[in-house]
Amino acid sequence: QFQDELGTVNASSSLEELRRNFLSKKGYVSGLMKELGKVPPEQKKTTGQLINTFKQEVIAKFEEKEKELIRLEEERAINQAESYDESLPTENPCGSYHPITLIQRELEDIFESMGFNVEDYSEIVDDYHCFEALNIPKYHPARDMQDTYYLSTPNQLLKSHTSAAQNAIMKKYAKALKEEGRPIRAVFPGRCFRNEAIDACHENTFFQMEGIMIDKDISISNLIYFMKTMLSEIFERDVKVRLRPGFFPFVEPGFELDIQCLICGGDGCPSCKNSGWLELCPCGMIHPNVLKYAGINTEEEPDKYTGFAFGLGLTRLAMMKYGVKDIRVFNEGDLNALSQFVSK
Ligand code: PHE
Repeated sequence: QFQDELGTVNASSSLEELRRNFLSKKGYVSGLMKELGKVPPEQKKTTGQLINTFKQEVIAKFEEKEKELIRLEEERAINQAESYDESLPTENPCGSYHPITLIQRELEDIFESMGFNVEDYSEIVDDYHCFEALNIPKYHPARDMQDTYYLSTPNQLLKSHTSAAQNAIMKKYAKALKEEGRPIRAVFPGRCFRNEAIDACHENTFFQMEGIMIDKDISISNLIYFMKTMLSEIFERDVKVRLRPGFFPFVEPGFELDIQCLICGGDGCPSCKNSGWLELCPCGMIHPNVLKYAGINTEEEPDKYTGFAFGLGLTRLAMMKYGVKDIRVFNEGDLNALSQFVSK
């Protein structure tokens, strides 16, 4: 009976039950011991030994079975973890791209179609690239415009704007500009960090896309043309832009570029604080010092170069394009919120 019952056990819980039935105080083996009293005296010894041998055998069989069950259960767990049925239906069959990725890729396509290279740059930079090469010397008050995170390693910081890549990218293409007359056209998207208190409108981690174009005779008209074309594509309609003066040490003249409010069409509404315009993108003509630091000539003909630069707030643009009212959505990682965005 014991062998039969043991043979049908296939889980630790039923093994425990069987153990109780056979080995507990009220179990089968104890029952046999109690029966020993009824056995004639001359058979007591051999019968007692028999019961004992049986008990030892039962204990040994239990131990054996226990090991086997543990092994089987582990095997089952591994098989379950490693195999999945790809034909099972699911409610949400696809992952989704982050809205910043969507808008970044859309912009990259637009700029590539206008002959721009897309460049990558590190998030940890040094003081020279983030400030000095951008005409912001040490102790310049403009450093206060950006509350920078400094790392504990000397001279390293988290980039506070994508402009930090300007110098390196200009140097990368300066030779082709001078020797082959190839204009520098590059955009470089990236994550930026500033020590901001976080609320619905402010984040300490946000995305920008910087753009530069450098050639002979580049003017503000070129800047306006490229910005207007890019924004009309991204918003899928003809947008009106205007420039206001703005100050950044690395551009001269510097501007704030506004677009006419997409919601009221310029008549005034709460989204544009009744002004009819939305501030969208700081930009300007690259300061001659910044070009000089990258080894690009700004003074003597015939090789005299000028250029424009802009720093598009990707996070801000995504908020406008998708109608997101709270900036925290982008960094919180809530899949329910993030999976709602789709590319066009
Ligand atoms: N880097 C500036 C900022 O983040 C923006 C900017 C870029 C301004 C390029 C002018 C030209 O505040």
